[in-house]
Parts: sequence; C-alpha cells; structure tokens
Amino acid sequence: MATKSKVLVVGGTGYIGRRIVKASLAQGHPTFVLQRPEIGLDIEKLQMLLSFKKEGAHLVEGSFSDFQSLVDAVKKVDVVICTMSGVHFRSHNILLQLNLVEAIKESGNIKRFLPSEFGMDPARMGDALEPGRVTFDEKMKVRKAIEDANIPFTYVSANCFAGYFAGNLSQMQSLVPPKDKVLIYGDGNAKAIFLDEDDVATYTIKTIDDPRTLNKTLYLRPPENILSQRQLVEEWEKIVGKKLGKITISEQDFLASMKDLGYAEQVGVGHFYHLFYEGCLTNFDIKGEEGAEEASKLYPEVQYTRMDQYLKIYA
Ligand SMILES: NC(=O)c1ccc[n+]([C@@H]2O[C@H](COP(=O)([O-])OP(=O)(O)OC[C@H]3O[C@@H](n4cnc5c(N)ncnc54)[C@H](OP(=O)(O)O)[C@@H]3O)[C@@H](O)[C@H]2O)c1
Repeated sequence: MATKSKVLVVGGTGYIGRRIVKASLAQGHPTFVLQRPEIGLDIEKLQMLLSFKKEGAHLVEGSFSDFQSLVDAVKKVDVVICTMSGVHFRSHNILLQLNLVEAIKESGNIKRFLPSEFGMDPARMGDALEPGRVTFDEKMKVRKAIEDANIPFTYVSANCFAGYFAGNLSQMQSLVPPKDKVLIYGDGNAKAIFLDEDDVATYTIKTIDDPRTLNKTLYLRPPENILSQRQLVEEWEKIVGKKLGKITISEQDFLASMKDLGYAEQVGVGHFYHLFYEGCLTNFDIKGEEGAEEASKLYPEVQYTRMDQYLKIYA
C-alpha cells in the first residue's frame, strides 16, 4: 500500500479545521497542525491543540508574521490544507493565505495544496452581489496565486455546512430551528446541498492522495442531501410531528432587507440570496466537465449523514 501523505493543517483549531485534523488522523495520515504564538492566552485553542497532540498529531510552531516559520512548517509535509477563517460574522482573513502560497512556492516540496474554500464555488460566482462577493473575489485571488505558482491543488466545494444551514432550517440570525413559523425564501423550491461538517472533513482527506482530483475542484454533492428549503422543513416537521407556519419572503423584499443591516449581515443576505433564490449550488451540471469531480461518486464508501438523521439532534 502506498504510504499516506504527511499533512499540515493551517487553521486547525477552527470550525472546519478541527474536523479536518481529526479526519486526517482517523485516515492514518501523519498529521501536523500549525500552532501560532498569536493564540497567546487563548486556553480553548491551546487545549484543542494539545488534544490533537494526544491523538497523535504533531504541533508545529509558526506564524503568518514570520515567513521563514511558514516555510519551515511546510517543508515537513507533502500536503497543506488551509482552513483560514472566512465567515464575516466570525472572522475573515482569506487573503492572509497569500503568505502561505508564497511559503509553499519557496519550499517547493508540496504535492497538493487545499486552500480555504469549502463553500460555494467562487469560480461560478462572478456575478455575485456586493458586498458578499468579497468572499468569492478573495478566494479567486488565492486561486490565481496558486495557479500562477504552479502549485498542485484541489479546491473543495463543500456547499452548505449543516450546522449553519440545516439545523436552523436555513433561517438567518439563528442556529436552531424556529418553534412555530419558518421564513421561506421565494417558492422554497431552489435546491441546495447540505453537508455534515464531519463528512466535509472525511471527503477532504480522501481527496488529498487521489490523482483523480489533482488540479481539480471536488464538489460535494451527496445525492440524498440535495434538498430544497421546503424539503428540509418537511424533514424537520416529520421529526417533531408538527407543521410550522410558513411565511414567504419575495426576492425583492429579501434583497431590500439588506439596506438597514451591518456589513457582515449584508454579506450573509447576499450569500443566502444566491443559495436560496438563485439555487447557485445546483444550477449547473458538472457531468463531463474537465476539472470537476463529485465526491460521493469517487468515494461511495463514505456513509454520509442524511439530513433526516442530522436534524434529530435539534429535537
Ligand atoms: N460551506 C459553508 O457553509 C461554510 C460555513 C463556514 C465556513 N466556510 C468556509 O470554511 C473556511 C473556514 O472557515 P471557518 O468558519 O472554519 O473558520 P474559523 O473557525 O472562523 O477560523 C479558522 C482559523 O483561521 C485562523 N485564523 C483566523 N484569523 C487568523 C489570523 N489573523 N492569522 C492566522 N490565522 C488566523 C485560525 O487558525 P488557528 O487554528 O491557527 O488559530 C482559526 O482557527 C472558510 O473558507 C469559510 O468560507 C464554509
């Protein structure tokens, strides 16, 4: 059996990063996690890093303000996965990755780089609304730097993380299901794709040593998780044995709601608009497309979590 690549996770204590560290260990990769001195007194992050170490990960000190430390960290491994923050209401530092791209270029040993993507495919979001398009524009800048430097890559298009989009029945401003009434976007029939974050991590690690995904985008489209908002709500109604009231919001009213909001919320409204009115995750076909692969086809052995199961934890 071929030896498993050594993996460095940058951003390993983050929301998706921590799951990627665990999946890498679970799939038997020698796993390295960047430990940044900037975490200082953040006891939660430190404890998480130590728990990774307990599970067999190697902690590597390095900082984005010390270029050589990034080069040294990158030199230790074959594959780099970056899970740099990119959610505006938490923290958004996508362009910091340009330093990492430089470090990978300098070290010259990396067989695969997975930048912080894990969402909508930025290459298909060229017409996205302001200000939310910043996410896609910045991810595209990082892609350009990677490709200009001829760094081997895989982009993971992970669609909707269930924790952000399923548990709340796709309601903004909440992470739990509404009790009585649910806001439905337009006719509620645009199809989205929902992924348990642990499955995102599993597929991500599956791809790193796979020649079929070299210099390609891996789309996570597990067929049973391609659901409209109405279908998602129905799954929840079955679990709780109760119908929710439906309040429909038109496209115009939804977009108009943006004007009184702060920047981070405006970014969110734009993203929700593309997802639930335009159906931006499913309004294109990847079949036969050069440069695109679908995860559940490549890795049918992954028993991905269906949303009827996922939602039970919220009941
Ligand atoms: N598809 C979806 O539904 C969805 C949902 C959420 C996020 N995403 C995407 O997933 C990716 C990761 O987002 P996330 O929410 O997991 O991120 P996050 O938890 O907010 O942050 C991830 C990590 O970024 C690092 N970081 C933040 N600021 C930094 C700085 N100034 N210098 C160096 N490192 C810094 C930290 O790494 P340390 O561990 O070193 O402290 C942090 O743990 C983004 O591309 C985002 O767009 C997708």
